[in-house]
Amino acid sequence: MGEIQIERVTTVTDELMAAFERLMPQLSPQARLPERDTLAQIVASPTTTLYIARDAGGTITGALTLAIYRTPLALHAWIEDVVVDEKMRGQGIGAALTQRGLEHARAAGAKSVNLTSRPAREAANRLYQNLGFVRWETNAYRFNFKE
Ligand SMILES: CC(C)(COP(=O)(O)OP(=O)(O)OC[C@H]1O[C@@H](n2cnc3c(N)ncnc32)[C@H](O)[C@@H]1OP(=O)(O)O)[C@@H](O)C(=O)NCCC(=O)NCCS
Repeated sequence: MGEIQIERVTTVTDELMAAFERLMPQLSPQARLPERDTLAQIVASPTTTLYIARDAGGTITGALTLAIYRTPLALHAWIEDVVVDEKMRGQGIGAALTQRGLEHARAAGAKSVNLTSRPAREAANRLYQNLGFVRWETNAYRFNFKE
């Protein structure tokens, strides 16, 4: 099991690209791999932060993106795209990534942190509820642009 290290990504490296090639299909089979420049934009943006997890040997085993932005109402924080390598699940890596996102958002001044997770994602739903996330009722809408 070993030590889990969570780190904030500051540079997009070949190692990070290779990790996303491994991890993205495990987040969503239809997911398109992010371009190097896309990850660079995330890392450079003041509103988004990319965290990764490393195992004791230094291998990247998971990732999480946190978005924080202001609107007239509040400082909003969203956790997105949480994924842990299949081989490494059930060891607290997802929890450690999410805790780091929560700490960051709290330090930034957010009063709450939002995320959505489809009911079929059982491990994810269990993880978030164990960490203290509570379900809130809303109608989630999406406008799809035609391809
Ligand atoms: C959700 C996910 C990130 C959790 O990562 P993780 O490192 O396994 O998380 P943790 O070890 O901190 O524990 C999460 C829960 O998964 C459960 N779990 C344990 N082993 C598991 C396994 N082999 N497979 C699935 N779930 C498992 C645990 O029981 C734990 O719940 P518990 O606290 O009730 O014990 C990971 O399962 C994943 O990447 N899933 C696919 C992508 C996804 O659904 N992302 C979330 C998008 S909202």
